[in-house]
Amino acid sequence: MTLLIKSARVIDPSQNLDKIADIYIDDGKIREIGEFSTADEVIDARGLIAAPGLVDMHVHLRDPGQTHKEDIISGCSAAAAGGVTSLLAMPNTNPTTDNGETVKYILDKAKGANAKVYVAASITKGLKSEEATDLDEVKAAGAVALSDDGRPVENTQMLINAMKRAPKLGMKIVAHCENLPIADGGIMNEGEVAGQLEVKGIPDSAEDCGTQREIAFADAFGVPVHICHVSTKNSVRMIRDAKKRGVKVTAETAPHYFSLTERELLKRDADYRMNPPLRREEDRLEIIRGLQDGTLDAIATDHAPHTPMEKADFETAPNGSIGMETSLSAGITYLVKTGLLSINQLIEKMSANPAEILGLNAGTLKAGAPADIVIFDPDENYIVDVEKLHGKSKNTPFKGQKLYGRVKYTLLDGRVVFRR
Ligand code: DOR
Ligand code: ZN
Repeated sequence: MTLLIKSARVIDPSQNLDKIADIYIDDGKIREIGEFSTADEVIDARGLIAAPGLVDMHVHLRDPGQTHKEDIISGCSAAAAGGVTSLLAMPNTNPTTDNGETVKYILDKAKGANAKVYVAASITKGLKSEEATDLDEVKAAGAVALSDDGRPVENTQMLINAMKRAPKLGMKIVAHCENLPIADGGIMNEGEVAGQLEVKGIPDSAEDCGTQREIAFADAFGVPVHICHVSTKNSVRMIRDAKKRGVKVTAETAPHYFSLTERELLKRDADYRMNPPLRREEDRLEIIRGLQDGTLDAIATDHAPHTPMEKADFETAPNGSIGMETSLSAGITYLVKTGLLSINQLIEKMSANPAEILGLNAGTLKAGAPADIVIFDPDENYIVDVEKLHGKSKNTPFKGQKLYGRVKYTLLDGRVVFRR
């Protein structure tokens, strides 16, 4: 079976490629980028961009245990609709992904899904920081990364042990940086808006102390660490400084941190509540500078589904927002259309870079690579309509917004898994 993507603007930052060309796909793999006349199936991509399928390295699929919010199949359909072809599933499931059996359950169920699922296992059992996860067991079952995401690893010794072991196992530590006593149950950024709303705030320092700790260990032991969902200006500066000093640190931010601020919370709508929280304009601007100068390597969504009922009460709702169906559009709208990043830089941060950080066979259109491809119109705009989303939950902070950049096709191993 052969497939031809005809006359696309092919952008592949992994090989510095940006030209009008055809992509020839054979048996689920990219055979060649060039000029071809026909194949078993042809996709006319004139006026569209074809790029490596996006790699979202921070996703909560809620399966096992909270499948009323999302499950592996629905989450992967949301991924496909957003052009995401590979994703890293976080371990704060129920049961926690802290054992081989749960890792295998996720990988098994994902086999027929519309995206490739990679698994992050937890660092401590039940994310409780009482007992360490058996890292050999979760590695043998197929996990590629380690994280207690949703929570920091409170037991510092367990974090250090995992950071030292992970490179030997070929696994990446992806760190949720937060100091819980400082965050102290706050529900949004600490500052003027929290004061106005008379709700408890979360200081920047809750995140910054976590970032500092993780960097200190990476520095001290000469091992890598990846910092998740950076939201504060000072965390960006610490990562920038650490990179300059040669510390093996990489980092991601999420679309909401480069596009929105705490002012959204004036709506008293819990869909704008996530952890870490939306911050101030000065933080948003430093996040953008971090994306521009390479301090922030990747854009990941922290896709965190919660049902409308769970999100109904502003103050007691759980943290998190969905993101996979709008991440490319948010990047195009807030970073590319504004001239802050080139489309090539955006694609690199959403495909090649996260693939490299996790060591995945993804994020490239090189000959022989799996034909995981997103085809999109960078200029088409649309209004984000929550009723038209493909996942089970609707908690997006971009609802009702006009965004640019529309996914037209998503291909997984050469198979069309989404078509608009
Ligand atoms: O907002 C968040 N939601 N932050 C996290 O760290 C966890 C996530 C979730 O699982 O809902
Ligand atoms: Zn997190």
